[in-house]
Amino acid sequence: MRLLINFLLLLMIIAVINCKNVEEDYDAVNEEEAGVIPFTHFCKFEIPMVNHSTTDDEDFCDCDVVSSSVIGKPIVKINCEMSNHVTNLTNKVFQAQKLPINTVTLILSYQHFNEIPEFVGEHLKHLDMSNNLITIIKDENFIHVTSLEHLDLSYNSISEIQSSAFQQLQLLHYLDLSSNRIVQLPLNVFTPLSALETLKLSSNEELGKNIVRDVFNSSSVSIYQLFGITTKLNSLVMTHCELTAVNLREGADLKRINLSFNNITDFSMIELPDNVVSLELSGNPILHFTATSLPSLLLLEELILEDLPFLKEVSDFSLYGFPKLHHLTFEGSRNLSLIKGSAFYEDSSNENIDTQLKIFNLRGCSLKSLHISLEPIINQLAEFHIDGNSFDCSCDMKWVKYIGIDTNLQCHRPETLNGKLLREIPDKRLKCENFFLNKLINTMILLFLLMVCSLAIWFFLRRLNPTRRNKFQKVGPESPYQRVTIEPNRAEYSLY
Ligand SMILES: *[C@@H]1O[C@H](CO)[C@@H](O)[C@H](O)[C@H]1NC(C)=O
Ligand SMILES: *[C@@H]1O[C@H](CO)[C@@H](O)[C@H](O)[C@H]1NC(C)=O
Ligand SMILES: *[C@@H]1O[C@H](CO)[C@@H](O)[C@H](O)[C@H]1NC(C)=O
Ligand SMILES: *[C@@H]1O[C@H](CO)[C@@H](O)[C@H](O)[C@H]1NC(C)=O
Ligand SMILES: *[C@@H]1O[C@H](CO)[C@@H](O)[C@H](O)[C@H]1NC(C)=O
Ligand SMILES: *[C@@H]1O[C@H](CO)[C@@H](O)[C@H](O)[C@H]1NC(C)=O
Repeated sequence: MRLLINFLLLLMIIAVINCKNVEEDYDAVNEEEAGVIPFTHFCKFEIPMVNHSTTDDEDFCDCDVVSSSVIGKPIVKINCEMSNHVTNLTNKVFQAQKLPINTVTLILSYQHFNEIPEFVGEHLKHLDMSNNLITIIKDENFIHVTSLEHLDLSYNSISEIQSSAFQQLQLLHYLDLSSNRIVQLPLNVFTPLSALETLKLSSNEELGKNIVRDVFNSSSVSIYQLFGITTKLNSLVMTHCELTAVNLREGADLKRINLSFNNITDFSMIELPDNVVSLELSGNPILHFTATSLPSLLLLEELILEDLPFLKEVSDFSLYGFPKLHHLTFEGSRNLSLIKGSAFYEDSSNENIDTQLKIFNLRGCSLKSLHISLEPIINQLAEFHIDGNSFDCSCDMKWVKYIGIDTNLQCHRPETLNGKLLREIPDKRLKCENFFLNKLINTMILLFLLMVCSLAIWFFLRRLNPTRRNKFQKVGPESPYQRVTIEPNRAEYSLY
């Protein structure tokens, strides 16, 4: 009986404890929801805007009201990244969000959005939703924010862009879709973006392969035609896309092109527009740079060819035809060991140079020498970087000591000059291996001639002597003393 009572008591205690636990759980759930649910709008305008560090403010974004002469009314800039407590915004909270009146800037980077909310705000110009979890851009996603000029969707997981995604964005001039998982772009997807100036599509690894395939399938139609890119586009950045070829000929206004870290092996695989000002092709497996690699680009100012692992030589006449070229770099192209003397010349009959080069960067290549024909180019430079090469300081390099610009050229060879600065080495120590080589060759030729002479003399003597021996031999068998076999030997003895 006592045992039974004890047992019942125990049961009751357990039940009570369980009840408590349930209550606690319930509270915990409430608290968790409490952290998310109150966030139904970005700003809490009741709190004076001067002080954002008040504790009440913590669940709201940083909302600045600034006077603006453009709209005539104060404008609102909302920055949720600045507000440390707002880090987990999701689409559960914002499906269609009417933005505070006159919102011009909305920064929602580093949140947990998996879609782009259909914002409503006629004045929104700048939307940053980089570093979210967005996977898709739906049709007509932006039709209520038609003033949008700057849209940053980089560092998301966008794999699908529907074909009418950018409808109504006639004022957009900056679109960043870098570091996503775009595999394919719908045909004419960018057609609505008639004011687009900057397009960034970098780090979409699969995209390049598809573009190449599409371009080749459609018998070399340019990406302008395929995707409806406006010819007013000013800047295209498509790095890390595994592109092997691309046709940009229709880019009448395309001035800045960055195709670094793709899979371009040959310059002829890219068709460039005429007006390009800045071209960057760093980190591509380009094999050759010759006179026909690039067309004549009359406006080209900047040519960035860094970290080309396989380029060995900059050939003759390859750098002619860029009269505005100002900045040229091959930095870090570790296999580059030769800049041909006539690299900047027009052709072999005509020693014209048309460049205004001011910055020439050859840092970290494997150059051994600088040809004296480069002197006029190097003399006009404002900056010349050549550290980290393996220069052979022979008499061929003497001229570099006397050019206008201080090069800090460090010698690698010969062994005795390793690590020394060229400018500190007296001329007489810059010896010409060629000179020695010539001397050596001359000596060898002399020796060879001497040998030939002596051989000739020897043969001459040999030819003289055997006749005598023949005589003896002839005499031998004919003579009555033919048993005497010692005779010819004696004859040879007499020879030496
Ligand atoms: C802002 O609020 C903090 C306390 O939250 C206070 O220490 C600080 O003085 C206030 N700054 C201004 C400009 O009112
Ligand atoms: C955001 O979510 C993470 C887990 O996804 C959580 O650890 C963190 O506490 C949340 N931050 C806020 C401010 O709610
Ligand atoms: C492009 O060509 C590939 C084969 O080379 C083919 O599989 C693909 O279907 C073609 N695409 C189009 C759009 O024709
Ligand atoms: C081109 O892209 C590369 C790789 O993203 C970057 O390092 C480089 O700064 C870009 N060049 C220009 C001129 O913007
Ligand atoms: C680069 O292109 C070549 C063919 O041109 C191909 O064999 C190679 O696999 C490609 N490399 C990458 C990383 O895609
Ligand atoms: C130089 O080119 C060769 C192939 O021609 C390659 O094996 C080597 O890795 C290259 N060197 C560097 C530093 O990339």
